[in-house]
Amino acid sequence: MILVTGGAGFIGANFVLDWLAHSDEPVLTLDKLTYAGNLENLRSLEGDARHVFVQGDIADAALVPALLAQYRPRAIVHFAAESHVDRSIHGPADFIQTNIVGTFNLLEAARQHWLTLEGAHRQAFRFLHVSTDEVYGTLSASDPAFTETKAYEPNSPYSASKAASDHLVRAWFHTYGLPVLTTNCSNNYGPHHFPEKLIPLVITHALAGKPLPIYGDGLQIRDWLYVKDHCSGIRRVLEAGTPGETYNIGGHNEMANIDIVQRICALLDELRPRSDGQPYARQISYVKDRPGHDRRYAIDARKMQQELGWTPAETFDSGIRKTVQWYLEHPDWVQNVQSGAYRDWVATQYGQAAHAQEQGQA
Ligand code: NAD
Ligand code: DAU
Repeated sequence: MILVTGGAGFIGANFVLDWLAHSDEPVLTLDKLTYAGNLENLRSLEGDARHVFVQGDIADAALVPALLAQYRPRAIVHFAAESHVDRSIHGPADFIQTNIVGTFNLLEAARQHWLTLEGAHRQAFRFLHVSTDEVYGTLSASDPAFTETKAYEPNSPYSASKAASDHLVRAWFHTYGLPVLTTNCSNNYGPHHFPEKLIPLVITHALAGKPLPIYGDGLQIRDWLYVKDHCSGIRRVLEAGTPGETYNIGGHNEMANIDIVQRICALLDELRPRSDGQPYARQISYVKDRPGHDRRYAIDARKMQQELGWTPAETFDSGIRKTVQWYLEHPDWVQNVQSGAYRDWVATQYGQAAHAQEQGQA
């Protein structure tokens, strides 16, 4: 059995579904079910004896050791986190608590559990920490892409909290010998992505006739990876990664935010044209920039390719089409997860256009 934390969230749920599609090894999912956790993401596993779900907090110092003692997993894949940069600017406390204190608690419980294992079981145990490229900071247009040796320069409360957790994971390897693996991945997109993040927000706002908020000039660059490719990368690292090593996972797909939004608008024009025949790009609306907004991220994923033979299967064209189609086919999912209150803060912070109904901007 493996333990997956945060398995009811976006990437975690895709990972659990993907894992059980590839293997009969059972999964124990531990998830607090914050606003971002959604059991609907795992509905297809209802009644599946290979999946156990426990609602709980990774920072719970009684629960986590008890679960490890009861289920004795051979690996932990750690996704649970507060994950949204805007929310970390709005309220950093939860990020410190879950991403840092929670990871610390999980590491300590994992270490105690690992020490109870013997021989080959202790050798084979792995703690895989899922992290982000944002820990490396921001790049200019001419800088080389992030390699695993790039110095950490986190700029947001979110990325600082993830950087802190990465350092804890590293220390538990060097000090205690816990067999850890860390992955630093670029921006994911795909099914079950909470519609506070750029791609699902743009799809859902477009369909609802709302403005599509572009922070600042929209020329910020991210590297985009289809979520199932991230899942296959994590499975590969778990299977063949070297303890103590870190692995950068990326999509070889740098794009400016405005180009992403234009691409989604064009796909929607094709798949679900507006009733008035106008292009969805009419709804694009430039708003105030995100404070401390990182300009560019880019991942050098050669280590994953050369050492582990991993490359992404999807191009951006194929992945974004699947993603838009998934949202078109799951309006109930969208309706169930949309949270009104938080967008009020975004509207105040970044400008009313982020929240108002379409005002006919070109
Ligand atoms: P998400 O916000 O969609 O899901 C997070 C999940 O963790 C939710 O199910 C939530 O209920 C759960 N959770 C939060 N706090 C918890 C706690 N204290 N105890 C137990 N469960 C808790 O996040 P995501 O986008 O799926 O990201 C998953 C991981 O991948 C995070 O660690 C994130 O830093 C990392 N990551 C994300 C991306 C991306 O593009 N989304 C890219 C690289 C790395
Ligand atoms: O790089 C990996 C990271 O990618 C992960 O670690 C984070 O968990 C994940 O949330 C994501 O962070 P970003 O801040 O890059 O993602 P987000 O979707 O919030 O924003 C993507 C870009 O789009 C960013 O430059 C900000 C911009 N943006 C975002 C929103 C929500 C807009 O222009 N308008 C918006 O409304």
